[in-house]
Amino acid sequence: MRTHIKIAWSVLSLAVLGAVLVKAGSAPKAGTQPAAPPRHSLSTTTSAVLLREAIPGTSPNAQTLRQGQYLVAAGDCMSCHLSKGGEPFAGGLALKTPFGTIYSSNITADRETGIGGWTGDQFYQAMHDGIGARGENLYPAFPYPWFRRLRRADTDAILAYLKTTPPVKYTPPANDLHFPLNLRAMVKGWNLLYLKGGEFKDNPAQSAEWNRGAYLVNGPGHCSGCHTPKGRLGADLTAQSFYGGNLDNWVAPDLTPNRRSGLGGWGLEDISEYLKTGRNVHAGAAGAMADVVTYSTSLLTDADRHAIGIYLRSLAPSPAQAGVAPAGSALRKGAAIYSDVCASCHLENGVGQPRYFPPLGHNAMLQQADATGLEHLILAGGRIGSTPSRPSPLSMPSFAWKLTDQEVADVATYIRNSWGNQAPVVSASEVAQTRSKLGLGARRPTANSGDWP
Ligand code: HEC
Ligand code: HEC
Ligand code: HEC
Repeated sequence: MRTHIKIAWSVLSLAVLGAVLVKAGSAPKAGTQPAAPPRHSLSTTTSAVLLREAIPGTSPNAQTLRQGQYLVAAGDCMSCHLSKGGEPFAGGLALKTPFGTIYSSNITADRETGIGGWTGDQFYQAMHDGIGARGENLYPAFPYPWFRRLRRADTDAILAYLKTTPPVKYTPPANDLHFPLNLRAMVKGWNLLYLKGGEFKDNPAQSAEWNRGAYLVNGPGHCSGCHTPKGRLGADLTAQSFYGGNLDNWVAPDLTPNRRSGLGGWGLEDISEYLKTGRNVHAGAAGAMADVVTYSTSLLTDADRHAIGIYLRSLAPSPAQAGVAPAGSALRKGAAIYSDVCASCHLENGVGQPRYFPPLGHNAMLQQADATGLEHLILAGGRIGSTPSRPSPLSMPSFAWKLTDQEVADVATYIRNSWGNQAPVVSASEVAQTRSKLGLGARRPTANSGDWP
């Protein structure tokens, strides 16, 4: 399942600022009729293959194209610019927000509907300032607040590479944002407040490796776009950078070295392996992270994944959360449900089978203060995406049909407080909310209830 909200960016900010900053003459995106993304035979696997297709030659031009291809992977452009059943980079993926839907643009080499006719200046302006070719503001659902760290040579290389990809004539549907957010000029106010810094500059006090990691994480990788909590106006709460964020009814966990909720228990090799294969002895990458691994981090070099780890491990740990012990009765009920429906894969003592069924003891994903991601996983199931080194996807079944809200809450509370884990109680009403947001309906047992095929 492809996720629809990629960046926990809130359009609310625009509503608040818009009242003050709205300017006449701001043109919403051309009023095209919504069109279905083009159907074709390329599967998502083929899209990932495109990103690692060897570009032959030793000319400076070939080297630039290889650099551009690599940065397109580092920037995870494919995850957002590919819609289900659509062509690579043709866009049309719906990014749903509470205030309406934004569709990703066509960034193929097509001159009419894509960016085939763009100049290097225009492309740099889009990546750096979020300004489109007609001078219009782009919405920050496009991660230009991070991409502005890229140097001009890097954006030139990306454009050169994108111009060599198959041109696709396709106009994504017009955005469907409610007034006044449909007025692009409102983004100007947001930019004034939040668009900070420029191209990445090395910190001379740190090693070359650390600087490489900092660049990849805070520039193309835009990791904090998902892993940092957002403020009322939708921008990163920078004082809590990498403390974990909430998106698309899922949680992007704490990436600081906090020993419970973060990566404190992971070695450098564990981080590298997770980014390369989507799994390691501690966890499996589901939700939006599955696409990040498939289209981005699995395609980086080992040296770059190592550099990302070096940088993440240098962050200050997030503060420890106060624990609240759950009632014994909830734990007993949860333990019984666990034995019944989870232990067949994750085993009775939660040890699982590392790299296949993630071990649940000392598990950071389970110990996030916000349990939405766990509720989502139990209700909807999950899937680790495929990577060059682990080509077959791995999935966990959905339990929405089998467990009541109370049962999901009890089993979640139980595993959040077993085998070394400690995290707040999950309530049935919280689970009910997540279930309704996911549109999973109520439990539907029948005499023959089995698993989904
Ligand atoms: C988190 C999702 C996301 C990612 C990742 C992403 N984009 Fe986009 N991009 C969008 C959305 C959404 C838009 C449309 C914004 C709008 O309409 O205001 C967009 C628009 C653009 C545009 C403007 C096109 C036009 O016609 O105005 C360019 C250029 C672009 N993206 C390039 C890239 C490149 C290059 C990468 C990777 C380095 C990338 N994007 C990664 C979501 C994303
Ligand atoms: C589009 C949103 C998004 C982006 C961008 C993103 N992540 Fe994630 N990440 C997630 C989600 C969601 C999870 C939780 C996956 C799960 O529950 O299985 C996650 C999980 C992780 C984990 C595992 C944490 C744990 O304790 O299990 C690591 C490590 C990680 N991400 C690193 C990164 C790095 C490094 C980057 C940037 C290169 C990045 N992520 C970019 C959404 C994102
Ligand atoms: C058929 C085997 C199977 C069953 C049954 C199963 N799981 Fe899973 N589980 C998996 C697989 C495979 C993954 C890795 C893929 C993923 O994260 O979606 C996983 C992942 C998880 C994770 C994420 C761990 C991490 O660090 O990312 C949690 C938590 C979890 N399962 C809890 C449960 C609970 C609770 C139940 C019972 C309600 C359950 N599982 C039943 C196979 C199973």
